[in-house]
Amino acid sequence: MDRYEELAARHGTPLYVYDLDELDAARRDLFDALPDGFTLFYALKANPHPGLVRALREGDGRGCRPEISSTGELEAALTAGFRGEDCLYTGPGKTAGELTEAVALGVRLFSTDSVTDVQHVADAARTHGVTADCLLRVNSVTASATSSIRMTGTPSQFGFDSETLPELMPRLREIEGVRLSGMHFFPLSNAKDEADLVGEFRHTIELAAELQRQLGLPLRFLDIGGGFTVPYAVPGARGSYPKLRGELEAALDTHFPRWRTEGPEIACESGRYLVGSSGTLVARVSNVKTSRGRTFVILDAGINTFGGMSGLGRLLPVAVGTESGETAQRASLVGPLCTPGDILGREIDLPALEPGDTVRIPNAGAYGPTASLLMFLGRPAPVEVIVRGDDVLSVSRIEHRRAYRTEDTAPSADAPGAAG
Ligand SMILES: Cc1ncc(COP(=O)(O)O)c(C=O)c1O
Repeated sequence: MDRYEELAARHGTPLYVYDLDELDAARRDLFDALPDGFTLFYALKANPHPGLVRALREGDGRGCRPEISSTGELEAALTAGFRGEDCLYTGPGKTAGELTEAVALGVRLFSTDSVTDVQHVADAARTHGVTADCLLRVNSVTASATSSIRMTGTPSQFGFDSETLPELMPRLREIEGVRLSGMHFFPLSNAKDEADLVGEFRHTIELAAELQRQLGLPLRFLDIGGGFTVPYAVPGARGSYPKLRGELEAALDTHFPRWRTEGPEIACESGRYLVGSSGTLVARVSNVKTSRGRTFVILDAGINTFGGMSGLGRLLPVAVGTESGETAQRASLVGPLCTPGDILGREIDLPALEPGDTVRIPNAGAYGPTASLLMFLGRPAPVEVIVRGDDVLSVSRIEHRRAYRTEDTAPSADAPGAAG
């Protein structure tokens, strides 16, 4: 029985196992690939488990800061030991309520996507008698040539259209309660290769310098985004970036010659790269059936456990391994949900499997439980185990249940204990 089998036998399946040694290796590798002095934000959307967030904070003198886009993620960051002021709060739909809560909990740095967004941050800051720093997120009208997942250059809810900024600046400058402190770019996610990533960063740095000149914007902080890659639910290694550091230094030396001494402070962001390879999903085969000549291997984990992103076409198909690791059949790998959409892999190569066997899906640490349809069809969330070497550090499971607000709702027929 190997370690995954043992953990599955002890804690049940579906089961995520996160290995902090691998998490540390990813963090170190990414810091090594960046110039000294860079800030690295961890995007909690990839995995807000406080045990992982805490490990990324602690580092070995090179910890990440949290990039959050909800008060739920803020709570996870605070639970992991961060302070509100460590956070960068992003997202195009920040509400007045969450902004007020975030400012009350110490958040002072916001990425903003529109004039109204800046006004909302300012309202929350004035309510608490403080000044908040706003980065203007830029949706560049131009882009570098790339075949990776783009998040800019097209109409979008994200960021200010770069061509509108000169006209908007006077209005933005008049807003009281905020300081315009810099720019935020996130043009690319999961870059195909180092050349794409470098091309995009070069373009971003050049554009930031040009906008700064054009707008006269004080640039104390420049977040150039991310795009660092790791395989998603298939075997393979994290992206490697041997040229990135030199390329970034050269671009910054050209466009911001005093960046090392006088600023701006430069930041990058990553979600998947930092956590993806640390996670393995272990699931158990509930049944194997044939239908009209096709085989279906039915697992106790489907898109409720790992697959919220499958609707975006970003997941399928997964690859699974077993203790023996040998491929023996072509079959569909499906989950337990009552929907034909619960498919993790259609007609993929699989080992010989029978009910009771476990399978493992590698590189599953990012966009797992919290990016899945956790509540659909009422199954429990997967167990999540954090290990370091042979030590099990924590075992937990997200629980969701309906909480009745009896203080402002009359007990109704469906409330527990209500008279029928
Ligand atoms: C603003 C922002 N930062 C960071 C990320 C994390 O991306 P990834 O997990 O690909 O590193 C995203 C992903 O959509 C994002 O929108």
